[in-house]
Formats: sequence, C-alpha cells, structure tokens
Amino acid sequence: MTGDSHLLPAARSLYSYMISAAPPRPKSAIAILGATGSIGQATLQVLQSLGAPWRAVGVSAHSQVEQLAEIAQSARPPLLAATCPESANRLDSKSLPQDCQLLLGPEALVEIARSPQVDTVVAAIVGSAGLLSTLAAAEAGKRVALANKEALVVAGQLVKDALGRSGGDLIPVDSEHSAIFQAIHAGAARDVSRIILTASGGPFRTWSADQIAAATVQDALAHPTWQMGRKITIDSATMMNKALEIIEARWLFDLRSDQIQVVVHPQSIIHSLVEFVDGSVVAQLSPPDMRLPIQYALTYPDRTDCPCPKMDWSAGMQLDLEPADTERFPALELGWEVARRGGSCGAVLNAANEAAVQAFLAGDLRFPQICEGCRRILDEHHYDPNPALDEIMRLDRWAREEIHRWVTAC
Ligand SMILES: NC(=O)c1ccc[n+]([C@@H]2O[C@H](COP(=O)([O-])OP(=O)(O)OC[C@H]3O[C@@H](n4cnc5c(N)ncnc54)[C@H](OP(=O)(O)O)[C@@H]3O)[C@@H](O)[C@H]2O)c1
Repeated sequence: MTGDSHLLPAARSLYSYMISAAPPRPKSAIAILGATGSIGQATLQVLQSLGAPWRAVGVSAHSQVEQLAEIAQSARPPLLAATCPESANRLDSKSLPQDCQLLLGPEALVEIARSPQVDTVVAAIVGSAGLLSTLAAAEAGKRVALANKEALVVAGQLVKDALGRSGGDLIPVDSEHSAIFQAIHAGAARDVSRIILTASGGPFRTWSADQIAAATVQDALAHPTWQMGRKITIDSATMMNKALEIIEARWLFDLRSDQIQVVVHPQSIIHSLVEFVDGSVVAQLSPPDMRLPIQYALTYPDRTDCPCPKMDWSAGMQLDLEPADTERFPALELGWEVARRGGSCGAVLNAANEAAVQAFLAGDLRFPQICEGCRRILDEHHYDPNPALDEIMRLDRWAREEIHRWVTAC
C-alpha cells in the first residue's frame, strides 16, 4: 500500500465552515434520519423540550416500522421514510395520519435530506447506510447535525467538498466532537496545538488481555456509562469507536493524526479537551447525556435551557484520566493510521468493522477477531488516494465480502 501523507488538502476545513464569521442562524424544521434509534429518540425528546417553532418535518425508520407509526402519530411530520422494504410491508397505512406522506426504500432518505421543507438534517443512521443522505444534505446546503460519524470516516473529503459548494454547515453531535467544537472557539484555529479525545474505556477498561479475548456478546454490550445502539456499543468495547472518532476529528478540525490524542476518562464527564500553543487546555464538561450535544447542534450558535441533568458542583467528584492502552485495544492504532493515510482507508476500515461487528453479534467471530479482521482487510486493499463515490461504494462492498469470506474460513 502507498500514499502515506501528513499533508491535508489546502481546501477549507469543515471547521472553517463551522466557525465562519457569521454562523448561519438555527432553523427549526428538522429531519431525523434514524428516528427509531438511540440518537433519533433523544432528538425527538430535544424537539419536544424546545417546543414551537421547533418540529420534526421528516423522520425515517429501517426495521422498526411500528415505532415509526407511533412517531408519526405523536410528532406528525409531513414526511416519513421506511427504508427496509420487507419491514415496510408490516406497516398498516391506516395507522398513519393522513397528512403524512410515506416514502419507501433507501432513496427516500435522500429525498427527505434534499426536501425544501427541511432546514436541518440530524444524521442519526448507523453505519455507511447513512452516507448518501448525509452527502445529499450537505449538497443541498442544509445544516447537518452529524451523529453518523461513519459518513465522515468513509467519505470525509466528499462531504467537505459538498459543503464547500453548497454553503451548508456541519455541526458535530458526537459528544467528544461537540466538546471540541465548543472548546476550540477559545482560540484561533492556527493556535490549536492538539486535541485530546476522552474515552470511557468501555466495559473492558480494567480487563486483562486474556479476559478480553474470551469476552462474550453480553459482556461487550454492557457499557458502563452510555446507553447506545448495539453497533456503537461494540465499537466502544473494542475502542474502534475512538478510532472512528480520531478519523472524524481529522476531517472536522483539519488536524494531522499526530495532533489527536486519546485519554481514558471513565466518568464520561469531561467530553474532550483542546490544547493551544501556549499550553492552555480548554475542556467541555457535563453529565453524560446525548441530548445536550444534539440540542447544541440544532440551536448553534445559540444556547437555550436543556432538559439534561446539570453538574452538581456542591458534591465532591472524582475525575480520572488514564493513558489509552493500545496493546489491549489495537483498534486505536488503526484510527491513527487511517487518519494519517486518508484516501480509501476510511471506507475499507469502516466496512470491515461493520461486517466484523455483525459477525461477532451473530456469534461467528470471537471478540479480538473484530480488530484482527479489520487490520487484515485494510492491509490487503489497493490504496486509492482520492476515491470517487462509486469507488467508495465498491470498496465498501468488497471489504464486507472479504470479511464474510474470512469469517467462513476461520
Ligand atoms: N447512541 C449514542 O449515544 C451515540 C453517540 C455518538 C454518536 N452516535 C452515532 O450515531 C449513529 C446512530 O447511533 P445509535 O446508537 O442511535 O444507533 P441505533 O440505536 O442502532 O439506531 C440506528 C438508526 O439507524 C437506522 N438504520 C439501521 N440500519 C439502517 C439502514 N440500513 N438504512 C437506514 N436506516 C438504518 C435504525 O432504524 P431501525 O431501528 O428502524 O432499524 C435506527 O433508526 C451512529 O453513527 C453512532 O456512531 C451515537
């Protein structure tokens, strides 16, 4: 494989769009792509607490169509999408309000993302299934409230180019990147020396390598601080989630991989830190609750009251910081490597990981084999420094097939 480069493209970074001199005012017509998931549900709560004029004007579900019907009844969005055709067959159209238009299939996501009725798209689909709609929202000049980190991991350059053409803005929802986005305003972009992503350490923070090697699906799903979807929960256990976040940060803040550090913080209170050239470190703290970064991504640059619990500064508290252990969590090195090399590496790593996590959840892979499979497929792929969308989609399919082949051979 070739193409290692420390140089980032000279084009404007996503960060420079996010902090332009006059940031676009928040707008209140929200599409939630992935409304039935953990982030989607939290977004609906945020909209409810913000009240009018904030409203959901589009929502999507994949398999949980019964929940989609419930959302339609309570939030009355004019646009609904059911993306999984088999699940959509279970949907009784009589259970939907008459003023809701039901769109079917994966293309419906792009249609909603582009709809003139929509101001902001909350990209809350899990995995590369969220890529095309995130790109469509960026191309249409919407505000993208991005939870779907995989879209940036897979196609950061394409998302960045799309925002450059359309004038849309992108605000991170991931709590770590929201924290950096908030803290980084304390200085000029040129004066950022590094960022420090915090990681809870997941369920295996204190486990030995031998214990981790024998971890079951149930062990890996028992996250100590966050209630999240199954895929990101497994990613937290392998620390692949932090690897994906390193890559996400590279695109969001236009940093070199060696400017992105990871530190383990089991309490999940300090959501991340920014260090400036003078040695000052600015952090964002709050109890772990995704409604805060979601709300901030919607209302930025404004702040408003939030239903999340607040810090209780009268009670004593312990905030621990520990070094990240790349021996027990080899996924981290994959994150730095892919952030450094760019090109096709993100699409390949992400697809290999999605397929390996699926195989682990199905009982077809052991826990340490998730990262082993990712390393193998990343090393085998033919590096492309500047893949177009077609090539990214082809590599996504290829990496999944390679993982399936490898799992069968294991
Ligand atoms: N949860 C968190 O606290 C958190 C924090 C930071 C970042 N994130 C990121 O946010 C994203 C969502 O995470 P999550 O925890 O909310 O996941 P989740 O609970 O599993 O929800 C995933 C959502 O995506 C939909 N979906 C799944 N496969 C799809 C497909 N092929 N096509 C279209 N839609 C599909 C699901 O629909 P159905 O449920 O109807 O099948 C659901 O609405 C991920 O990228 C994750 O990394 C999550």
